[in-house]
Amino acid sequence: MKASDTKATLSFSNGGQNVELPIYKGTMGPDVIDIRKLYAQTGMFTYDPGFMSTASCESAITYIDGDKGELLYRGYPIEQLATNCDFLETCHLLLYGELPNEGQKAGFTKLVTNHTMVNEQMQFFLRGFRRDAHPMAIMTGLVGALSAFYHDSTDINNPKHREIAAIRLIAKMPTLVAMAYKYTIGQPYMYPKNNLSYAGNFLHMMFATPCEEYKVSPVLERALDRIFILHADHEQNASTSTVRLCGSSGTNPFAAIAAGVACLWGPAHGGANEAALNMLYDIQKAGGVDKIGEFIKQVKDKNSNVKLMGFGHRVYKNYDPRAKLMQETCREVLGELGLENDPLFKLAMALEKIALEDEYFVSRKLYPNVDFYSGIVQRAIGIPVPLFTAIFALARTVGWIAQLNEMIGDPEYKIGRPRQLFEGSPKRDVQPLSRR
Ligand code: SDX
Repeated sequence: MKASDTKATLSFSNGGQNVELPIYKGTMGPDVIDIRKLYAQTGMFTYDPGFMSTASCESAITYIDGDKGELLYRGYPIEQLATNCDFLETCHLLLYGELPNEGQKAGFTKLVTNHTMVNEQMQFFLRGFRRDAHPMAIMTGLVGALSAFYHDSTDINNPKHREIAAIRLIAKMPTLVAMAYKYTIGQPYMYPKNNLSYAGNFLHMMFATPCEEYKVSPVLERALDRIFILHADHEQNASTSTVRLCGSSGTNPFAAIAAGVACLWGPAHGGANEAALNMLYDIQKAGGVDKIGEFIKQVKDKNSNVKLMGFGHRVYKNYDPRAKLMQETCREVLGELGLENDPLFKLAMALEKIALEDEYFVSRKLYPNVDFYSGIVQRAIGIPVPLFTAIFALARTVGWIAQLNEMIGDPEYKIGRPRQLFEGSPKRDVQPLSRR
């Protein structure tokens, strides 16, 4: 980061000493005011619950321009990556900072492919769950359990360990998600096949059975690969910040990623794709397009606590570029599958149109986000609704790892330890039981 010539001066109306704070500039995006010395100089903390105005770190991985609706991975626009690259090229880009050339791509693909199997003991963890356990509950357990198997790659401060743990996590997430799915439907697990692509292998592990040959559909394979690319990273979102904070204690990479899985599950975050599809199902069951007005009325009624799931974003105050690409993928996949008249897709587009013309949403700059259409295309691929967020976690694992490794690789990093504005009881003495 580069120091700006401009300084910030903090002055106090009670005549307290002014404080001068340096301002730093990045390559793009808002400058930052460096408050690291503020507490030492003033005895005061800043106050920013939800981190609406706080940069928690410096990063070179992903840039979002919320006003323009722009998303760049290592400088490349998401639109170009989603059309010209595949997920493993995107993983290479996020992890190492550059798109691979042919040789690097072949080597990276081979490396990931050769780590897709999980230890045979992993299957016994699943047996502890009920068959109807939510896949994200299973994934939170399985990903954390990986740390029990890889003692050779759990020292987060060892770059070699970080590298092998990154490859293992990227390679094994599809296998674990497919196992979580097979377990809930009582079917045998399918082993990875090294002659398939990353997305093709996942489809095979999900939908093949030992009883017959399973042919990977190139349309679904490409659609899934694009879904992975669109979900791969997204700056300092809640789950990425969780992974960074968790990893800052020096815990092993598997435990830190398990924390990210747990955070992503929430309906305000990665769980929104499942919630958005269930919302569309509910509107459809209630009567479809004719019931949209009634639903929107509920959303506007603050007491209803009903939100338009898949809409709104902390950063995007314009259309989420991923939502546009996801809608395009929806159209392609539904068209290829002869489902262009899919009622849920039509309902989603009608809902989007009505919302984007409604003052309530326009004034609050609420647009569709990545989760609004992703459920429709995943459902068309045959992925069950409760598995949507696990697919999001599968794809986001590379972003979490890249961000974690960037933090650990920074010699200046410290354990994250925020403070608070204390509003509890002043000091008081314990009274004996008889006098309480
Ligand atoms: C993801 O951070 C990331 O980058 C996340 C993500 C990633 O890739 O990692 O992009 C993935 O999590 C996308 C977001 C998925 N979540 C949803 O779709 C759930 C629905 N959306 C909302 O819960 C909400 O929009 C958030 C959580 C996404 C953002 O909330 P903020 O930034 O805290 O904004 P807010 O809640 O303060 O909302 C501002 C206003 C409020 O109304 P007022 O109090 O001003 O009257 O907008 C309203 C909110 O009530 N509002 C909504 C709404 N989202 C915000 N009203 C109805 N429906 C919504 N979806």
